[in-house]
Amino acid sequence: MSPELLPRPAAIGRDEYRRRCQTLMAALPEGSAVLLPAASLVTRSNDSDYPFRQRSDFHYLTGFPEPDALLLLLPGREAGEIVLFCQERNPAIEAWTGIRLGTDGAMAHFAIDEAFENPARVEALGELIDGRETLYLLLDDSESLALADQVRSELKGRARRGAVAPQALADLAPLLHEQRLIKSQAELALLRHAGEISARAHVRAMRTARPGLNEYHLQAELEHEFRWQGANGTAYDSIVGGGANACVLHYIENRDALVDGELVLIDAGAEFDLYAGDITRTFPVNGRFSSPQRQLYDIVLAAQERAIEAVTPGATLAAIHQGVVRDLSRGLVELGLVEGELEAVISEERYKRFYLHSTSHWLGLDVHDVGTYRCHGEPRPLAPGMVLTVEPGLYIPDDDDIPEAYRGIGIRIEDDVAVTRDGHEVLSAGVPKRASEIEAVMAKE
Ligand code: GLY
Ligand code: MN
Ligand code: MN
Repeated sequence: MSPELLPRPAAIGRDEYRRRCQTLMAALPEGSAVLLPAASLVTRSNDSDYPFRQRSDFHYLTGFPEPDALLLLLPGREAGEIVLFCQERNPAIEAWTGIRLGTDGAMAHFAIDEAFENPARVEALGELIDGRETLYLLLDDSESLALADQVRSELKGRARRGAVAPQALADLAPLLHEQRLIKSQAELALLRHAGEISARAHVRAMRTARPGLNEYHLQAELEHEFRWQGANGTAYDSIVGGGANACVLHYIENRDALVDGELVLIDAGAEFDLYAGDITRTFPVNGRFSSPQRQLYDIVLAAQERAIEAVTPGATLAAIHQGVVRDLSRGLVELGLVEGELEAVISEERYKRFYLHSTSHWLGLDVHDVGTYRCHGEPRPLAPGMVLTVEPGLYIPDDDDIPEAYRGIGIRIEDDVAVTRDGHEVLSAGVPKRASEIEAVMAKE
C-alpha cells in the first residue's frame, strides 16, 4: 500500500466554538447557567489509564483537550460569559504526563473569556452561579449532579448573607444535542476526512485478505491506516468477522482464521479530531463471491443503494428503514428463506429473523451520535447538515431449516451520508461495494 497521506482538513477555529456557546446561551431562558464537566481519566488496570478521550459535549463547546476541566456558561455576565476551570500548571507532574495548558493557555488558544484553576473551584463556582435561577446540566451524568449538589449546598449555606441557589436543575442534553445534530461546514469537512481515511483502510484490508490469515491481521491493516493518516484511532472497536462471526453484530474478538470460501464482514471507522467514520463492507476471503453469497449480497446492496438514494431533506429514517425492510423481505421470499406473502412477511415481522437492527443512526462526534429520532411523536424529517449511516444487512443463522448454501452467511453494507440542500453526499464513497468492483480490487496485487 502506498504511504500516500491525505491532506488534513482545517481544525475547527475558536470563532466557531464561541458561536456554538453563544447559540446555546441564546436558547436558554433568562437567569440560566450551564455547567458541563470535561471527561476524566479512567483507570485501565492498576496505575495505567485508558487513553484520554474528551467528552463529546464538552469538546463540541470548547475544543479544550484536557481532562478534569469544567465549563460554565453564564449568559449576560459582564466579566465574560464563557468560563473554564482547568488543571493548574505543575512542572513536576507535567514532566511525566505532558504539558498542561493552564489558565493562560486556555485563554490564549480557546474561546474562553475567563479561566480559573481547579483548586479555586468550590468557592468560585458558588460565586459565579449565585443568583442564577436554573442550572442546565447533563442530568444523566453523576459527576454533573454531584457538582450541582455541592454548589447548591454551598449557596444555601450562605443564604442568610444573601446568596441565592438555583431553584431548578434542567437537562442540558435536549438543547445541546439538537444543536449537535446539524453539522457545520467545518464539522462536515472532518466527517468527510474520517470517511476518507476509513474508506482507505477498508480498501487496504480487502487487498490484504486471503485464506490462512486471521481476522486480527485485517484489524491490524485497518488500524495501521487510521493512525498512519493521523486519526486518533478507532471510532469504536473494529469488527472483523469471518464466516458466521459476521452474524454476531458486535463481534470484536477478531481472533479466528479467515477461511477459503467464506465471507468476512468488516465494520470499522477512524476517529479524526474526535469525528467518527463508520463503514461496513463484506467481501470474500478468497476474492471471489460464490453464487449463494452473491445472491444475498446483491439483495443487501440493492436495498442499501435505494436507501441512500432516498436520503434527502424531508425524508425520514423511519420511511427509509421501511423501504429497506421491504427490499430485504422481497429478496428473502424470492430466495425461499422466508415463506409467505410479502405483505405478511413485513407486517408479521418475519424478516426479523434475518434483519434485526435498524437501518440508520446519526453520526458525528459519537459514532451513535446524539439527537432525537422523533419530533412531536412523529419521525423527524431530515434536514441539511444531518449526518447518518445507511447500513442494511442480512444475517442467516446456521439452523437446520435453512438451505445449507446460505447458512452462517452474514452481510452488512454501511456508508456514511450527509444530508445536503438538495439530496445527499456519501462521505464513505472511497471504498467499493459492487461485488464486481470488490473482486477487481482484490484481484490486484
Ligand atoms: N459500528 C457500529 C454501528 O455500525 O452502528
Ligand atoms: Mn453504524
Ligand atoms: Mn458500523
